[in-house]
Amino acid sequence: MLTLLSSSTNGMVIGAMKAAIPFGIGLASATFMAAKIALSPEFSTDKRIPIASLRPGDSSHDDEYNEDPDAFLERCEKEYGPVFNVYLLNMALTVISGPQAREVFTNESFSANDALEELTCMRSYFDTGRKSNNNYNNRTIPALIRDMITRFIPTYIPKIVAQMEKVIDQELGYCPAQRGAKLVEKPLLVFQKIIANATALVFVGPEIAKSRKIIDTFISASKDFGKTFGNGGVRASKWRTFIQRANYKLFHPLRNHAQILAEASMSVILERRRLEALANEAGIEFEQPDDVLQHMFDDFDKHGLVDLEDICAFALIISGAIVHTITDASTNMLYYLAAFPQYMDRLFQEQQQVLDTIQAEREQARQERSREGKPIGDDLDPAHDRDLTAAAIKKMIYMDSFVREVFRFRTERLGIMHLALEDVTLSSGIMISKGSTVIINTRPAHQSSENGEDVTEFRPWRFVGKNKAATKVGMDYLPFGMGRHACPGRFIVVEQLKAVGALMVSKYSKIEIQDPSKTKMALCTHIGEPIDTGLKFTSRE
Ligand code: HEM
Repeated sequence: MLTLLSSSTNGMVIGAMKAAIPFGIGLASATFMAAKIALSPEFSTDKRIPIASLRPGDSSHDDEYNEDPDAFLERCEKEYGPVFNVYLLNMALTVISGPQAREVFTNESFSANDALEELTCMRSYFDTGRKSNNNYNNRTIPALIRDMITRFIPTYIPKIVAQMEKVIDQELGYCPAQRGAKLVEKPLLVFQKIIANATALVFVGPEIAKSRKIIDTFISASKDFGKTFGNGGVRASKWRTFIQRANYKLFHPLRNHAQILAEASMSVILERRRLEALANEAGIEFEQPDDVLQHMFDDFDKHGLVDLEDICAFALIISGAIVHTITDASTNMLYYLAAFPQYMDRLFQEQQQVLDTIQAEREQARQERSREGKPIGDDLDPAHDRDLTAAAIKKMIYMDSFVREVFRFRTERLGIMHLALEDVTLSSGIMISKGSTVIINTRPAHQSSENGEDVTEFRPWRFVGKNKAATKVGMDYLPFGMGRHACPGRFIVVEQLKAVGALMVSKYSKIEIQDPSKTKMALCTHIGEPIDTGLKFTSRE
């Protein structure tokens, strides 16, 4: 789900030594354990793979990589070719670049899930709440995302947009130029609220989502989801993992969140059942509520879910991923809009053109119905002519290109680790031995000529008319991986990012970075890392 690296700490065992001491473990034993469980390097046993040289004084490649990822990788690719070993994030990693990266994504002997588990406590966190489907390599979460989220995106989008708009108006409001731009010092917190409210609405419906406690639960679940990745990037530390797992055993956070949601949902679900029974008795068709919880409830046995608490735990795992990643990505996208203000008006114009076309088509359809003497139904209500529907968002090709370019430009150069579950020989003859971890070098992919010219520059329209939607994965675009395990969440992510972008450019004519000297840093932050400067908003007149 997440692939980005942390630049926040360096040194091989320092992170482990600084970690807090868990309950019940004294200082002496804690120090002993920290030393015991610090990671030892485990490169592939194939000695032909070169180890990248270290700069004098460096004990790992972290500093050189973080100072200038492109320069570091260019140096290594030139000196060692597409496959080489590095010490990064407290790990011994084999970097794979170019066409052999495809072999990693498409070979089931490489597992991103297992690499993630080595590095994060994701599965342990899930196990604090879910009661079913916790066996190894279970496919329930991707299946639920496909069946409960992606399938219903067209019906969710108008609700998401309406809710986001409501919260944007509450949080940012109208800030005309004559009153001075409105400064938001921590836009991430505002966007967390916006995305959590919209996500809660489509997950549990308006009755349950109106509760403050429930919104807080969605936010907490997303924070806990983010914490499994070490808040703002991952760095291997068996010590951190140990403490985190111990905390999970003591505090079982997902179970707590699921219990709150189950308690709030029970009466609503029972009431829905009662109304359905009444409708059936009266021979009237019951209009099924359209939210994720209801869909999961209707299909719980298909996915092997055992009770309402279990359903709520899975809902909060998926919503946690959504709120965490979309909050981060949409906040980051705003910094791009602020850094490249010359593109705001083109995006706004596109939106107006798309809505003008849809409005004209609907008007024509109404006239046709009138001519045929048919009633104009709710589906053609003029009040909804200019709604941001999924169909309207699909037509916004400039916005789509903008989103794809942000991902291409921003995505960490080294990311998406995979653990070798057995010895694998790549087409070059290099052998990646069982138990070693590879990391994908996305630089050659994202800066290949497949992406056009000026690949080291941010050019938001580079994909317009190129049949390269922001969800379309391939060897030239790897933020969501590729192959069988390509991210199933990317459809809702991109759809919602486009909706956020459309709302923001229609409401605000100018977005500025509070401290422009921090622009470069803001554009390159890692997932989940806070950006150290705010944003200023000026409304459209
Ligand atoms: C900015 C947002 C996101 C990014 C950049 C991202 C990226 C990725 C990447 C790189 C992978 C690994 C693909 C591989 O194994 O090669 C992945 C897998 C996955 N992602 Fe995401 N993701 C994002 C958001 C989400 C969201 C919101 C969800 C849930 C709705 C999600 C659910 C998953 C799942 C379940 C997998 C595992 C798929 C499998 O094993 O078949 N992701 N993601």
